[in-house]
Amino acid sequence: MQLFFQHIRLFLLLCSCFSIATLFAQRTVTELSTGWRFALGERAGAEATYYDDKAWQEVRVPHDYAILGPFSRDNDLQDVRNIQNGETQVNRKTGRTGGLPYYGKAWYRRSFTVKGKGRWFIYFDGAMSEATIFVNGTKVAFQPNGYAAFEIDVTPHVHQGNNILAIQLDAKAHSSRWYPGAGLFRKVELLHTASHYIPLWGTHAIPLLQGEQGIINLTTRICGGNQEVMLQSQLLDAQGHVVAQTINKLKEQDSSLCHQRIVIDKPQLWSPESPYLYRLVQQVIWRGKVVDKQVQSIGIRSVAFRPYEGFFLNGQRHSIQGVCLHHDYGMLGTAVNESALRYRLQLLKDMGCDAIRTSHNLPSSLLAQLCDELGFMLMIEPFDEWDTPKCENGFHRYFDKYADDLVRQMVRHFRNHPSVVLWGIGNEVPNQRDENGWKLVQHFQQICHEEDASRSVTVCMDQIPYVLKNGFEREIDIPGINYNTQNYPQAYAQWRQHIILGSETASTVSSRGVYKFPVQLREMAMYDDHQSSSYDVEYCSWSNTPDTDFALADDNPWYAGQFVWTGFDYLGEPTPYNNDSWPSHSSVFGIIDLANIPKDRYYLYRSKWNRQAHTLHVLPHWTWPGREGLITPVMVYTDYPEAELFVNGRSMGRQRKLSATEVATSLHDSLALLRRYRLIWDNVKYEPGQIQVVAYDSMGRATLNKTIKTAGAPHHLVVETINDTISQSDGSLAFLRVSVVDKEGQLCPDDNRLVSFSVSGVGRYVAAANGDPTDLHQYHLPQMPLFHGQLMATVSALGRKGIIRFTAQADGIAPCTFTLITK
Ligand code: GAL
Repeated sequence: MQLFFQHIRLFLLLCSCFSIATLFAQRTVTELSTGWRFALGERAGAEATYYDDKAWQEVRVPHDYAILGPFSRDNDLQDVRNIQNGETQVNRKTGRTGGLPYYGKAWYRRSFTVKGKGRWFIYFDGAMSEATIFVNGTKVAFQPNGYAAFEIDVTPHVHQGNNILAIQLDAKAHSSRWYPGAGLFRKVELLHTASHYIPLWGTHAIPLLQGEQGIINLTTRICGGNQEVMLQSQLLDAQGHVVAQTINKLKEQDSSLCHQRIVIDKPQLWSPESPYLYRLVQQVIWRGKVVDKQVQSIGIRSVAFRPYEGFFLNGQRHSIQGVCLHHDYGMLGTAVNESALRYRLQLLKDMGCDAIRTSHNLPSSLLAQLCDELGFMLMIEPFDEWDTPKCENGFHRYFDKYADDLVRQMVRHFRNHPSVVLWGIGNEVPNQRDENGWKLVQHFQQICHEEDASRSVTVCMDQIPYVLKNGFEREIDIPGINYNTQNYPQAYAQWRQHIILGSETASTVSSRGVYKFPVQLREMAMYDDHQSSSYDVEYCSWSNTPDTDFALADDNPWYAGQFVWTGFDYLGEPTPYNNDSWPSHSSVFGIIDLANIPKDRYYLYRSKWNRQAHTLHVLPHWTWPGREGLITPVMVYTDYPEAELFVNGRSMGRQRKLSATEVATSLHDSLALLRRYRLIWDNVKYEPGQIQVVAYDSMGRATLNKTIKTAGAPHHLVVETINDTISQSDGSLAFLRVSVVDKEGQLCPDDNRLVSFSVSGVGRYVAAANGDPTDLHQYHLPQMPLFHGQLMATVSALGRKGIIRFTAQADGIAPCTFTLITK
């Protein structure tokens, strides 16, 4: 009987929910991903409601049209003098934007349905670039910045039934210093609300930690007229239990804000190690009915930059171990893809990286969401240029009219994310040299503080000798220095903040699998093959190897931490091969290559940054026909202090990492600083066979060991992946690493043969890359040469459960078929 009543109660409850929902529909968000038509070039009249776009290409959004290439030296040739890099004359830059055709006019069209009362909005998470938006033939918005999210209230322009959305993009050549991407590369959404609603970025949630209490101060805007509404805000824990809530009346909507305060005892804190998230559920109640509901993640943590002492997270000193990231995914271009982003973040996590700088633009909403979820701190910045150009057609053209808005929108968009710990307002702006440059610093910082009093602001500077004289940094909360490590001590002592952030560091260059001899520190080293050495000893004229930054972090409490340039190789900026050095067209700064394969350097950072797992990595490979008897130094990247090297069973002796004092007194050893963080055997002569390394812990006990053998003839292909089960949803990707190995499974490190791919079952081939910055094969074609024995292919699920069979084959060796499951 009791059960019967329970069922009746449940039934009545469901009925009442249903009637509320139908009478007072809450917001619906529809991602506009399918149904788009796309065309390149001038299309007179394409904004109109009636326009014949049947012949246009059918595409899905997010979409990047330029990644299909083909690559060409003539795409976006730029004649510039790069002052940042110390250039004294104008140089022809090839491949600066990846050698890809990202510029010119492009159009997207699709229809959308409007049904029912309420308000209608279209949200763009970004549109690359100079986007003009039309609804039913009427121009409704213009957004010059391709990375900026924006929303348009299209209510006055729509009618019941079918409506037409048309977007014209007009990206300019010579407008970027890297591959910016092309097209509607981020999500587009249609939002329908009732007449009373919380607008975009209408909630500002500031979590504070006070003793054992978590306090969330909420400021919420509600739109919809001047009738009385209630706002209920509930905080739910990770299990979905309400842990705190508050409800308030609001009379004057539109013009006033609703201030609320939520208090919880002993909250679970958010940190990169333990990214605990609560959910904030807000409901707008009008005439007793819920008319709008918004759900967002909230993390409670405290962040502080303290003079003389560095950066503190939840009260603990924490040296930031961050990387700078551009937004492209290499072979996939810039179209936002969740599984690609997760894959990349997973790699960074394993390296021990805990922070990302979104250089030098606004990120996708998804990046911030995943950083909250997976535990990465974020430093977000809006642009690379102020009013003085770095590129002929860069953002400076829109600076006067749009810069303030962009900074304000940045803060409003991302301020509720616990991952965001710092705002950036400028990257190496030439204004650093001006007497009055500090006024713009003050101005942009003021905007950030108005919108978010809880976070500090930084500006990333590289013209330190000027700044030391003109006080450009005088107003900034946290001075950020890019490179110029020789200036850190003076800047720290002289500037009132007494703290330095390594806002951009290292710019070490290396190509996976490439080793140059002799092994020596080299600045702007260039070779005929357009590669850089993977011994991690080469860097730019303005930069250094990672060891310098490690030492700064270890030795100076006032050093807040660093953002390494860069986590991944990216399309464009092929320094040092950017001055008429075609076919170089992607960077070699990455710790991980363009194909998502870690370079040696990955393990150097891992050995220092990952404190949960041990690292023992040996370089170079040991297959050097022709180098017999020649000096072939061996390096070991490990968190252990000491190791012994054996060549074909013979000991080459034990090496121990040097202390800071030993480094300081090793005046004649140019690699002394490197020996503080790496174990180096300089005088090893190559002989085929095997090398073995045995690591010793601080007690002198042998712990891990690793052996590398000389490879025999290439014999077969191997396919490996981190996840052999992927989600069935269309666009969910698997990353498949293809390697060529000898009979015993040893990687053949110099094999560059062409590999072809085929996919059957419930998947399709998407793209492949090999990490070679000079390779011109188009990623989306189902073949790619190996680069130093390896490449990475991606396949996508098709929206169905089942099995995907991926086959890689190449002439002269056995193929490999790999089976993936989708669920
Ligand atoms: C910096 C700049 C970055 C990148 C880097 C290469 O000066 O901020 O965007 O160009 O140099 O080393």
